[in-house]
Amino acid sequence: MDFSIKACNWNSVAQTEMLRAQSSCIVIGIFEGSPLLGVAQQIDQAMKGSIGRLVKAGEINGKCGKAWMLHETVGVSAARVLVVGLGQRENFNAKIFAQAVRAAARVLLASPVFVPQVKTLLWTLVQECSSEVDVVKGVRLSICLTREIVYQFTQLKSQAETSQPRPQKIIITVNAADEKSAKASAKQGVALASGMDFARDLANLPGNICTPTYLAQTAKELAHEFALKAEVLGQKQLETLKMGAFLSVAKGSTEPPKLIVLHYQGAAAKTKPIVLVGKGITFDAGGISLKPGEGMDEMKYDMCGAAAALGTLRAVAEMGLKLNLIVVIPSCENMPAGNAYKPGDIVTSMSGQTIEVLNTDAEGRLILCDALTYVERFKPALVIDIATLTGACVIALGHHHSGLYAKEDALANELLAAAATSVDPIWRMPLDDEYQEQLKSNFADMANIGGRPAGSVTAACFLARFTQAYSWAHLDIAGTAWKSGASKGATGRPVPLLTQFLIERATR
Ligand code: BES
Ligand code: MN
Ligand code: ZN
Repeated sequence: MDFSIKACNWNSVAQTEMLRAQSSCIVIGIFEGSPLLGVAQQIDQAMKGSIGRLVKAGEINGKCGKAWMLHETVGVSAARVLVVGLGQRENFNAKIFAQAVRAAARVLLASPVFVPQVKTLLWTLVQECSSEVDVVKGVRLSICLTREIVYQFTQLKSQAETSQPRPQKIIITVNAADEKSAKASAKQGVALASGMDFARDLANLPGNICTPTYLAQTAKELAHEFALKAEVLGQKQLETLKMGAFLSVAKGSTEPPKLIVLHYQGAAAKTKPIVLVGKGITFDAGGISLKPGEGMDEMKYDMCGAAAALGTLRAVAEMGLKLNLIVVIPSCENMPAGNAYKPGDIVTSMSGQTIEVLNTDAEGRLILCDALTYVERFKPALVIDIATLTGACVIALGHHHSGLYAKEDALANELLAAAATSVDPIWRMPLDDEYQEQLKSNFADMANIGGRPAGSVTAACFLARFTQAYSWAHLDIAGTAWKSGASKGATGRPVPLLTQFLIERATR
């Protein structure tokens, strides 16, 4: 799909060249309970007041998330006009704008495509943006949300499904004064969308294809494409590093473990890097503490943290952000086997701290703790780990917010702001010391589980014990990284959040 930016003030619609494109659909936004203004007013005038009459008749009301296709377009040459509700003007924000974009994209771009006459979209919604959602944010959201809706994972179907061709050209109109910033933002929107697609493709691949070795190979190819430094450590090197926790998880699998390390350098070499650590369990059977069979296929998604870290790196590299970013991915399978680690085993982590394994299904924290110790060597500005860590996080927050844990308020607030801007919501959870008591072990420095109460919190508290050397945040994406049921598939979250956070870090 091709996105372009055009300056257009619509103040003499009849002359507006773009409207002569007969195969187009004009997408306009209207606010609820307010007179038609801006682009909507101009188009309404050209259409002899027909939009206004529909509003008056109550057929169109501007309710957010709703869209109305107008087939009678007398006065403009476009084949169709799509009116999109933007809600009440005083409530307008990024989340509302995203709902409107999704509503429009669903009508026009989701398969099957209902309007074969429409080849080009004239997307005017960004011109309704105000201070709350500026043009830069509006363009970026328009692009990444439409790309999100047209995404399909078809690489493993032997035959292509035939469907109507969807519109391929989207012209985003902006006011002349905004043209330059909109063009720069469009580039970022495309880079972000490609980062999300990359993460979703990787995550949707099944465990028999996407093994730790495959993940490492894909990371190397990504590094090659963007001229990044890449390093992959195998079994022997992990032994030398004394990553006893990570290696114990990998023991029961015939797939060898990998530690993937990628470096993006967009700033001076002495600038402290930001480090992303992504959980890369390519299949989580639970190990000897075997999971129940129902829905176990979805544990191929237990590498979504890794996929999101790589997707974010891809977006950042394509944008050429002026910062240094390191991505570290511990990757292995968690399988039951005669030589698998067992409940009761005590393992020594790279940090020297000993861990009593009370449940082999709490493996994410075991591979992450060694990766979190490993990254100390980079003297990071901050570290964010991303992990499908706990079912308990899904119980606590469902599928809307990812769980955010951070020791420092400043970092937490920065991430919360980026989440609001990118419409990739997170919710801050507690990390108080009181919860640490649940991890007490009679035989080792700590246990790897803290019982049922606050399961997501105690998992984060476990990780906190390995992150004393730097600023740190943890994202539990167990509920947000993929969808189950009829629309089963990876979401690409939290690539938008992380990329937004890094965009702001690079420009502050
Ligand atoms: N990968 C799972 C977490 C998970 C479960 C994510 C379901 C999404 C959906 C993780 O490795 C795990 O199994 N965690 C256990 C921890 C428990 C044994 C303390 C869990 O959440 O049940
Ligand atoms: Mn598990
Ligand atoms: Zn897991």
